[in-house]
Amino acid sequence: MSQLSSELPAFPMSKAKGCPLDPPPEYAQLRSDRPVAKARLWDGKEVWLITGYDEIRSIFTDPRISVDNTQPGYPWLSEQARTVVLTGGVKPVGRMDPPEHTAMRRMLGQGFLVKKIQNMRGDVEALVNELIDDILAGPRPTDLVPSLAMPVPSTALGWVLGVPPADKRLISLVPRLFDEDSGLEGAMEARAELFAYIDELITHRENQPGDDIISHLVGYYQKGELSRVSVLTQSVTLIAAALDTTRSMITNGILALLQHPEQAAALIEDPDLVPAAVEELLRYTVVTEFSSKRVAAADIEIAGETIKAGDGIICLISAGNRDEKVFTDPDTLDVRRDAKQHLGFGAGIHTCIGKQLARMELEVVYGTLFRRIPELRLAVPFDQLVFRNTFDVQGVRALPVTW
Ligand code: HEM
Repeated sequence: MSQLSSELPAFPMSKAKGCPLDPPPEYAQLRSDRPVAKARLWDGKEVWLITGYDEIRSIFTDPRISVDNTQPGYPWLSEQARTVVLTGGVKPVGRMDPPEHTAMRRMLGQGFLVKKIQNMRGDVEALVNELIDDILAGPRPTDLVPSLAMPVPSTALGWVLGVPPADKRLISLVPRLFDEDSGLEGAMEARAELFAYIDELITHRENQPGDDIISHLVGYYQKGELSRVSVLTQSVTLIAAALDTTRSMITNGILALLQHPEQAAALIEDPDLVPAAVEELLRYTVVTEFSSKRVAAADIEIAGETIKAGDGIICLISAGNRDEKVFTDPDTLDVRRDAKQHLGFGAGIHTCIGKQLARMELEVVYGTLFRRIPELRLAVPFDQLVFRNTFDVQGVRALPVTW
Protein backbone atom coordinates (compact mmCIF):
# COMPACT_ATOMS: atom_id res chain seq x y z
CA MET A 1 0.00 0.00 0.00
CA SER A 2 1.52 3.32 -1.01
CA GLN A 3 1.69 6.23 1.45
CA LEU A 4 -0.39 9.31 0.60
CA SER A 5 1.84 12.35 0.24
CA SER A 6 -0.50 14.49 2.42
CA GLU A 7 -0.29 11.97 5.27
CA LEU A 8 3.47 11.62 5.56
CA PRO A 9 4.72 12.00 9.14
CA ALA A 10 7.06 14.91 9.90
CA PHE A 11 10.68 14.07 10.60
CA PRO A 12 12.49 14.36 13.03
CA MET A 13 10.05 12.92 15.57
CA SER A 14 10.10 13.87 19.24
CA LYS A 15 11.28 11.62 22.02
CA ALA A 16 8.87 10.64 24.75
CA LYS A 17 8.92 13.01 27.74
CA GLY A 18 11.39 11.79 30.35
CA CYS A 19 13.05 9.27 27.99
CA PRO A 20 15.94 11.15 26.35
CA LEU A 21 18.02 7.98 25.95
CA ASP A 22 15.28 6.12 24.07
CA PRO A 23 14.37 6.57 20.41
CA PRO A 24 11.06 8.36 19.64
CA PRO A 25 8.15 5.94 20.25
CA GLU A 26 7.04 6.19 16.57
CA TYR A 27 10.13 4.26 15.46
CA ALA A 28 8.85 0.96 16.93
CA GLN A 29 5.54 1.35 15.11
CA LEU A 30 7.26 2.19 11.84
CA ARG A 31 9.64 -0.77 12.22
CA SER A 32 6.80 -3.23 12.63
CA ASP A 33 4.39 -1.70 10.05
CA ARG A 34 6.70 -0.31 7.42
CA PRO A 35 10.48 -0.61 8.03
CA VAL A 36 11.09 1.43 4.87
CA ALA A 37 8.69 4.40 4.99
CA LYS A 38 8.42 7.92 3.68
CA ALA A 39 8.36 11.03 5.89
CA ARG A 40 8.50 14.76 5.33
CA LEU A 41 11.42 17.05 6.22
CA TRP A 42 11.42 20.68 7.45
CA ASP A 43 11.93 21.95 3.87
CA GLY A 44 8.93 20.01 2.54
CA LYS A 45 11.07 17.34 0.87
CA GLU A 46 10.24 13.65 1.20
CA VAL A 47 12.74 11.26 2.70
CA TRP A 48 12.86 7.49 3.22
CA LEU A 49 13.21 6.45 6.86
CA ILE A 50 14.76 3.03 7.40
CA THR A 51 13.92 1.56 10.80
CA GLY A 52 14.39 -2.24 10.45
CA TYR A 53 17.77 -3.74 11.38
CA ASP A 54 18.07 -5.89 8.21
CA GLU A 55 16.94 -3.07 5.97
CA ILE A 56 19.48 -0.63 7.50
CA ARG A 57 22.27 -3.15 7.02
CA SER A 58 21.14 -3.71 3.47
CA ILE A 59 21.24 0.05 2.68
CA PHE A 60 24.66 0.42 4.36
CA THR A 61 26.13 -2.35 2.22
CA ASP A 62 24.40 -1.61 -1.12
CA PRO A 63 26.80 -0.28 -3.78
CA ARG A 64 23.88 1.58 -5.42
CA ILE A 65 23.66 3.91 -2.42
CA SER A 66 25.64 7.16 -2.31
CA VAL A 67 26.75 9.46 0.54
CA ASP A 68 27.29 12.48 -1.71
CA ASN A 69 25.71 15.46 0.07
CA THR A 70 25.87 17.69 -3.00
CA GLN A 71 23.07 15.63 -4.66
CA PRO A 72 19.73 17.51 -4.71
CA GLY A 73 17.91 14.69 -2.91
CA TYR A 74 20.36 14.57 0.04
CA PRO A 75 18.28 14.90 3.24
CA TRP A 76 19.46 17.93 5.22
CA LEU A 77 17.91 18.41 8.64
CA SER A 78 18.28 22.21 8.73
CA GLU A 79 19.52 25.14 6.69
CA GLN A 80 22.23 25.71 9.31
CA ALA A 81 23.57 22.17 8.90
CA ARG A 82 23.69 22.58 5.12
CA THR A 83 25.55 25.93 5.41
CA VAL A 84 28.13 24.76 7.94
CA VAL A 85 28.80 21.36 6.36
CA LEU A 86 29.01 22.49 2.75
CA THR A 87 31.42 25.36 3.55
CA GLY A 88 34.92 24.46 2.43
CA GLY A 89 34.67 22.70 -0.90
CA VAL A 90 36.79 19.53 -0.42
CA LYS A 91 34.85 16.36 0.37
CA PRO A 92 35.50 14.69 3.73
CA VAL A 93 35.95 10.90 3.69
CA GLY A 94 32.42 10.33 5.01
CA ARG A 95 30.89 11.98 1.93
CA MET A 96 32.98 10.18 -0.69
CA ASP A 97 31.79 7.24 -2.80
CA PRO A 98 34.08 4.55 -4.26
CA PRO A 99 36.63 4.58 -5.82
CA GLU A 100 37.61 7.93 -4.20
CA HIS A 101 36.40 6.65 -0.82
CA THR A 102 38.35 3.37 -1.07
CA ALA A 103 41.61 5.24 -1.65
CA MET A 104 40.99 7.68 1.18
CA ARG A 105 40.11 4.94 3.70
CA ARG A 106 43.38 3.19 2.77
CA MET A 107 45.37 6.36 3.41
CA LEU A 108 43.65 7.06 6.74
CA GLY A 109 43.72 3.42 7.82
CA GLN A 110 47.36 3.41 8.89
CA GLY A 111 46.56 5.71 11.79
CA PHE A 112 43.91 3.36 13.16
CA LEU A 113 45.63 -0.05 13.09
CA VAL A 114 44.21 -2.17 15.90
CA LYS A 115 47.67 -2.83 17.40
CA LYS A 116 48.50 0.87 17.38
CA ILE A 117 45.29 1.70 19.25
CA GLN A 118 45.83 -1.10 21.78
CA ASN A 119 49.34 0.26 22.42
CA MET A 120 47.73 3.54 23.51
CA ARG A 121 45.62 1.80 26.15
CA GLY A 122 48.14 2.20 28.99
CA ASP A 123 48.36 5.96 28.32
CA VAL A 124 44.56 6.29 28.23
CA GLU A 125 44.34 4.37 31.54
CA ALA A 126 46.91 6.71 33.11
CA LEU A 127 45.02 9.76 31.78
CA VAL A 128 41.63 8.54 33.07
CA ASN A 129 43.13 7.74 36.49
CA GLU A 130 44.67 11.22 36.71
CA LEU A 131 41.36 12.85 35.79
CA ILE A 132 39.55 10.77 38.41
CA ASP A 133 42.21 11.71 41.02
CA ASP A 134 41.40 15.35 40.28
CA ILE A 135 37.65 14.72 40.47
CA LEU A 136 38.04 13.00 43.85
CA ALA A 137 40.24 15.82 45.15
CA GLY A 138 37.85 18.53 43.90
CA PRO A 139 34.48 19.86 45.07
CA ARG A 140 31.21 17.91 45.00
CA PRO A 141 29.07 17.91 42.92
CA THR A 142 31.17 18.02 39.77
CA ASP A 143 30.26 18.10 36.10
CA LEU A 144 31.69 15.05 34.32
CA VAL A 145 31.57 16.74 30.89
CA PRO A 146 34.58 19.07 31.34
CA SER A 147 36.29 16.91 33.97
CA LEU A 148 36.23 13.56 32.09
CA ALA A 149 34.11 13.26 28.93
CA MET A 150 35.81 16.09 27.05
CA PRO A 151 39.51 15.66 27.93
CA VAL A 152 39.67 11.88 27.30
CA PRO A 153 38.71 11.88 23.58
CA SER A 154 40.48 15.15 22.76
CA THR A 155 43.74 14.06 24.39
CA ALA A 156 43.64 10.59 22.82
CA LEU A 157 42.81 11.97 19.37
CA GLY A 158 45.65 14.46 19.80
CA TRP A 159 48.02 11.45 20.19
CA VAL A 160 46.63 9.81 17.04
CA LEU A 161 46.92 13.05 15.06
CA GLY A 162 50.40 13.83 16.38
CA VAL A 163 49.60 16.92 18.46
CA PRO A 164 52.60 17.76 20.70
CA PRO A 165 51.71 16.71 24.31
CA ALA A 166 52.08 20.20 25.81
CA ASP A 167 49.74 21.72 23.22
CA LYS A 168 46.26 22.04 24.77
CA ARG A 169 44.63 24.17 22.04
CA LEU A 170 42.61 21.27 20.62
CA ILE A 171 41.02 20.63 24.02
CA SER A 172 40.08 24.29 24.44
CA LEU A 173 38.56 24.52 20.95
CA VAL A 174 36.18 21.58 21.37
CA PRO A 175 33.48 23.21 23.52
CA ARG A 176 33.32 26.21 21.19
CA LEU A 177 33.01 23.99 18.14
CA PHE A 178 30.17 21.85 19.34
CA ASP A 179 28.18 23.70 21.98
CA GLU A 180 24.95 25.47 21.21
CA ASP A 181 26.02 28.42 23.39
CA SER A 182 28.58 29.46 20.81
CA GLY A 183 25.85 29.91 18.12
CA LEU A 184 26.43 29.72 14.37
CA GLU A 185 28.86 32.65 14.37
CA GLY A 186 30.88 31.28 17.29
CA ALA A 187 30.99 27.79 15.74
CA MET A 188 32.18 29.21 12.39
CA GLU A 189 34.87 31.25 14.20
CA ALA A 190 36.04 28.17 16.13
CA ARG A 191 36.02 26.19 12.87
CA ALA A 192 38.27 28.81 11.20
CA GLU A 193 40.64 28.66 14.21
CA LEU A 194 40.68 24.87 14.01
CA PHE A 195 41.60 24.95 10.30
CA ALA A 196 44.41 27.45 11.04
CA TYR A 197 45.64 25.29 13.91
CA ILE A 198 45.68 22.06 11.86
CA ASP A 199 47.37 23.94 9.03
CA GLU A 200 50.16 24.80 11.49
CA LEU A 201 50.44 21.12 12.52
CA ILE A 202 50.70 20.08 8.86
CA THR A 203 53.56 22.55 8.31
CA HIS A 204 55.27 21.17 11.42
CA ARG A 205 54.88 17.57 10.14
CA GLU A 206 56.19 18.52 6.69
CA ASN A 207 59.48 19.29 8.39
CA GLN A 208 59.38 16.73 11.21
CA PRO A 209 57.38 13.62 10.24
CA GLY A 210 56.32 11.18 12.97
CA ASP A 211 54.20 8.00 13.17
CA ASP A 212 50.86 9.83 13.26
CA ILE A 213 47.95 10.40 10.89
CA ILE A 214 48.89 13.91 9.85
CA SER A 215 52.41 12.72 8.98
CA HIS A 216 50.99 9.80 6.95
CA LEU A 217 48.67 12.13 5.03
CA VAL A 218 51.50 14.62 4.48
CA GLY A 219 53.50 11.70 3.00
CA TYR A 220 50.72 11.13 0.42
CA TYR A 221 50.64 14.87 -0.29
CA GLN A 222 54.40 14.91 -0.84
CA LYS A 223 54.06 11.94 -3.26
CA GLY A 224 51.41 13.93 -5.19
CA GLU A 225 48.53 11.56 -4.26
CA LEU A 226 46.63 14.06 -2.09
CA SER A 227 46.23 17.84 -2.17
CA ARG A 228 47.31 19.85 0.85
CA VAL A 229 43.76 21.14 1.34
CA SER A 230 42.55 17.53 1.45
CA VAL A 231 45.11 16.72 4.18
CA LEU A 232 43.62 19.64 6.09
CA THR A 233 40.00 18.65 5.44
CA GLN A 234 40.45 14.98 6.37
CA SER A 235 42.30 15.88 9.58
CA VAL A 236 39.55 18.31 10.59
CA THR A 237 36.94 15.66 9.68
CA LEU A 238 38.51 13.23 12.12
CA ILE A 239 38.25 15.83 14.87
CA ALA A 240 34.62 16.59 14.00
CA ALA A 241 33.71 12.89 13.76
CA ALA A 242 35.61 11.78 16.86
CA LEU A 243 35.14 14.27 19.63
CA ASP A 244 31.46 15.08 19.92
CA THR A 245 30.51 11.42 19.40
CA THR A 246 32.91 10.02 21.98
CA ARG A 247 32.25 12.65 24.65
CA SER A 248 28.48 12.14 24.19
CA MET A 249 28.85 8.37 24.32
CA ILE A 250 30.92 8.66 27.51
CA THR A 251 28.25 10.77 29.23
CA ASN A 252 25.22 8.90 27.86
CA GLY A 253 26.76 5.56 28.85
CA ILE A 254 27.51 6.78 32.38
CA LEU A 255 24.01 8.20 32.62
CA ALA A 256 22.42 4.94 31.45
CA LEU A 257 24.44 3.03 34.07
CA LEU A 258 23.45 5.51 36.79
CA GLN A 259 19.82 4.99 35.76
CA HIS A 260 20.29 1.22 36.03
CA PRO A 261 22.34 0.81 39.22
CA GLU A 262 22.06 -3.00 39.11
CA GLN A 263 23.88 -2.93 35.75
CA ALA A 264 26.62 -0.64 37.14
CA ALA A 265 26.92 -3.01 40.13
CA ALA A 266 27.41 -5.95 37.76
CA LEU A 267 30.35 -4.14 36.15
CA ILE A 268 31.93 -3.33 39.49
CA GLU A 269 31.56 -6.96 40.60
CA ASP A 270 32.86 -8.46 37.36
CA PRO A 271 35.21 -6.14 35.40
CA ASP A 272 35.42 -8.77 32.63
CA LEU A 273 31.92 -7.63 31.65
CA VAL A 274 33.16 -4.17 30.62
CA PRO A 275 33.78 -4.92 26.88
CA ALA A 276 30.29 -6.43 26.52
CA ALA A 277 28.83 -3.48 28.44
CA VAL A 278 30.44 -1.07 25.96
CA GLU A 279 28.75 -2.88 23.05
CA GLU A 280 25.43 -2.92 24.89
CA LEU A 281 25.65 0.79 25.71
CA LEU A 282 26.48 1.55 22.06
CA ARG A 283 23.35 -0.41 21.12
CA TYR A 284 21.10 1.10 23.76
CA THR A 285 22.13 4.80 23.78
CA VAL A 286 22.74 5.82 20.18
CA VAL A 287 24.40 9.25 19.96
CA THR A 288 24.49 9.49 16.15
CA GLU A 289 20.74 9.45 15.70
CA PHE A 290 20.66 11.38 12.40
CA SER A 291 24.13 10.87 10.98
CA SER A 292 23.47 8.13 8.45
CA LYS A 293 22.06 9.96 5.47
CA ARG A 294 22.20 8.65 1.94
CA VAL A 295 20.94 9.20 -1.61
CA ALA A 296 19.89 6.36 -3.92
CA ALA A 297 22.05 6.21 -7.06
CA ALA A 298 19.64 3.74 -8.76
CA ASP A 299 16.11 2.42 -8.22
CA ILE A 300 16.16 -0.02 -5.30
CA GLU A 301 13.51 -2.54 -4.26
CA ILE A 302 13.50 -3.07 -0.53
CA ALA A 303 10.86 -4.31 1.95
CA GLY A 304 8.14 -4.06 -0.73
CA GLU A 305 8.97 -0.41 -1.55
CA THR A 306 10.80 1.16 -4.47
CA ILE A 307 13.33 3.81 -3.55
CA LYS A 308 13.85 5.84 -6.72
CA ALA A 309 17.24 7.03 -7.94
CA GLY A 310 17.87 10.46 -6.39
CA ASP A 311 15.65 9.88 -3.32
CA GLY A 312 17.03 10.85 0.09
CA ILE A 313 17.35 8.17 2.80
CA ILE A 314 17.99 8.29 6.56
CA CYS A 315 19.01 5.07 8.31
CA LEU A 316 17.77 5.30 11.90
CA ILE A 317 20.42 3.38 13.79
CA SER A 318 18.61 3.77 17.11
CA ALA A 319 15.57 2.03 15.59
CA GLY A 320 17.65 -0.82 14.13
CA ASN A 321 19.37 -1.30 17.48
CA ARG A 322 16.00 -1.88 19.15
CA ASP A 323 14.76 -4.40 16.53
CA GLU A 324 13.19 -7.34 18.41
CA LYS A 325 13.99 -9.66 15.49
CA VAL A 326 17.67 -9.30 16.37
CA PHE A 327 17.81 -8.35 20.06
CA THR A 328 15.63 -10.13 22.61
CA ASP A 329 13.81 -7.69 24.87
CA PRO A 330 15.49 -4.77 23.03
CA ASP A 331 14.30 -1.95 25.31
CA THR A 332 16.08 -3.47 28.30
CA LEU A 333 19.66 -2.47 29.10
CA ASP A 334 21.53 -5.71 29.82
CA VAL A 335 25.32 -5.53 30.06
CA ARG A 336 25.49 -9.33 30.00
CA ARG A 337 23.94 -9.70 26.53
CA ASP A 338 25.98 -10.21 23.37
CA ALA A 339 25.22 -6.95 21.51
CA LYS A 340 28.22 -7.00 19.17
CA GLN A 341 26.09 -6.89 16.02
CA HIS A 342 24.66 -3.45 16.93
CA LEU A 343 24.74 -0.67 14.34
CA GLY A 344 26.21 2.00 16.65
CA PHE A 345 29.28 2.37 14.40
CA GLY A 346 27.35 1.89 11.14
CA ALA A 347 28.20 -1.00 8.79
CA GLY A 348 29.64 -1.56 5.31
CA ILE A 349 32.27 0.61 3.69
CA HIS A 350 31.50 3.69 5.79
CA THR A 351 31.68 1.88 9.11
CA CYS A 352 33.31 4.12 11.72
CA ILE A 353 37.04 4.40 11.14
CA GLY A 354 37.67 5.29 14.80
CA LYS A 355 35.65 2.47 16.36
CA GLN A 356 38.63 0.67 17.91
CA LEU A 357 39.81 3.91 19.48
CA ALA A 358 36.32 4.78 20.74
CA ARG A 359 35.75 1.27 22.14
CA MET A 360 39.06 1.35 23.99
CA GLU A 361 38.34 4.79 25.50
CA LEU A 362 34.84 3.73 26.56
CA GLU A 363 36.11 0.52 28.14
CA VAL A 364 38.72 2.40 30.15
CA VAL A 365 36.33 5.19 31.21
CA TYR A 366 33.33 3.07 32.28
CA GLY A 367 35.51 0.38 33.88
CA THR A 368 37.73 2.78 35.84
CA LEU A 369 35.08 5.31 36.89
CA PHE A 370 32.67 2.81 38.46
CA ARG A 371 35.49 0.82 40.07
CA ARG A 372 37.06 3.91 41.63
CA ILE A 373 33.84 5.74 42.57
CA PRO A 374 31.26 2.99 43.17
CA GLU A 375 29.00 5.43 45.08
CA LEU A 376 28.71 7.70 42.01
CA ARG A 377 25.22 9.16 41.57
CA LEU A 378 23.44 12.00 39.80
CA ALA A 379 23.54 15.29 41.71
CA VAL A 380 20.28 16.58 40.17
CA PRO A 381 16.98 14.85 39.36
CA PHE A 382 17.15 13.06 35.99
CA ASP A 383 14.46 15.27 34.43
CA GLN A 384 16.56 18.40 35.08
CA LEU A 385 19.33 17.24 32.75
CA VAL A 386 19.51 19.27 29.54
CA PHE A 387 20.26 17.48 26.28
CA ARG A 388 22.11 19.08 23.37
CA ASN A 389 21.10 18.29 19.85
CA THR A 390 23.64 20.06 17.72
CA PHE A 391 23.70 18.74 14.18
CA ASP A 392 23.86 14.97 14.20
CA VAL A 393 25.10 14.09 17.68
CA GLN A 394 23.00 13.90 20.83
CA GLY A 395 24.27 14.10 24.37
CA VAL A 396 23.79 15.72 27.72
CA ARG A 397 25.09 19.30 28.13
CA ALA A 398 26.25 18.81 31.71
CA LEU A 399 26.42 15.69 33.87
CA PRO A 400 26.49 16.84 37.52
CA VAL A 401 27.40 13.93 39.80
CA THR A 402 28.30 13.39 43.41
CA TRP A 403 29.39 10.42 45.55
C1 HEM B 1 31.56 6.43 20.43
C2 HEM B 1 32.07 7.16 19.48
C3 HEM B 1 31.69 7.08 18.04
C4 HEM B 1 30.49 6.73 17.47
C5 HEM B 1 29.20 6.32 18.16
C6 HEM B 1 30.67 6.82 16.03
C7 HEM B 1 29.70 6.50 15.10
C8 HEM B 1 29.91 6.49 13.74
C9 HEM B 1 28.92 6.04 12.77
C10 HEM B 1 27.53 5.54 13.08
C11 HEM B 1 29.48 6.17 11.54
C12 HEM B 1 28.87 5.77 10.20
C13 HEM B 1 28.06 6.89 9.63
C14 HEM B 1 27.41 6.50 8.32
O1 HEM B 1 27.55 5.39 7.83
O2 HEM B 1 26.70 7.35 7.79
C15 HEM B 1 30.81 6.72 11.72
C16 HEM B 1 31.68 7.04 10.70
C17 HEM B 1 32.89 7.66 10.89
N1 HEM B 1 33.53 7.86 12.10
FE1 HEM B 1 32.79 7.44 13.92
N2 HEM B 1 31.95 7.23 15.76
C18 HEM B 1 32.61 7.37 16.96
C19 HEM B 1 33.93 7.73 17.14
C20 HEM B 1 34.81 8.06 16.13
C21 HEM B 1 36.20 8.37 16.31
C22 HEM B 1 36.94 8.30 17.64
C23 HEM B 1 36.69 8.69 15.07
C24 HEM B 1 38.08 9.10 14.64
C25 HEM B 1 39.13 9.14 15.41
C26 HEM B 1 35.60 8.57 14.11
C27 HEM B 1 35.70 8.83 12.77
C28 HEM B 1 34.73 8.49 11.85
C29 HEM B 1 34.86 8.73 10.41
C30 HEM B 1 36.04 9.43 9.71
C31 HEM B 1 33.72 8.21 9.82
C32 HEM B 1 33.37 8.20 8.32
C33 HEM B 1 33.92 6.91 7.74
C34 HEM B 1 33.62 6.72 6.27
O3 HEM B 1 32.67 7.32 5.77
O4 HEM B 1 34.32 5.93 5.63
N3 HEM B 1 34.48 8.17 14.80
N4 HEM B 1 31.05 6.89 13.07
